[in-house]
Amino acid sequence: MSTNRTFTMIKPDAVENGHIGAILEKIASAGFKIVAMKYTQLSLRDAQEFYAIHKERPFFGELVEFMTRGPIVSAILEKENAVEDFRALIGATNPAEAAEGTIRKLFATNIAENAVHGSDSDENAAIEGAFHFSGREIY
Ligand code: PPS
Repeated sequence: MSTNRTFTMIKPDAVENGHIGAILEKIASAGFKIVAMKYTQLSLRDAQEFYAIHKERPFFGELVEFMTRGPIVSAILEKENAVEDFRALIGATNPAEAAEGTIRKLFATNIAENAVHGSDSDENAAIEGAFHFSGREIY
């Protein structure tokens, strides 16, 4: 995956609360092109592997349970400066601290159920995209 791409998930809380359409609209309006997308549900093993970097953190069990409790939308997005611009679009991890107009400010429930994921580096964007999509699912 090239460095003008990032990886995102619309998390179970946002799906449950009916925000898929509104979040995709925000993403498209901000100039991101969707190059891969699927509606899916993570298994326990998927979530443990995806979030393995956080396995020592006190909220790991809660995070994995939350991310597996219902369907998500996962996608690879393309735009110049994608990783940084997408992190700005989604806002701070804790929606209480997120800037006005950001996706988390608008749609997140709380710090644990915060509506969307965005890769934190080009390297992780590539790893996370490859975790969710095979080469022929990316356009
Ligand atoms: S980040 O994006 O890595 O800088 O954010 P970080 O704060 O390090 O959090 C890493 C992921 O853990 C989630 N998180 C939590 N889950 C449950 N409870 C608490 N308290 C909590 N704090 C952080 C956070 O949403 C990050 O998940 P992703 O999917 O990367 O957004």
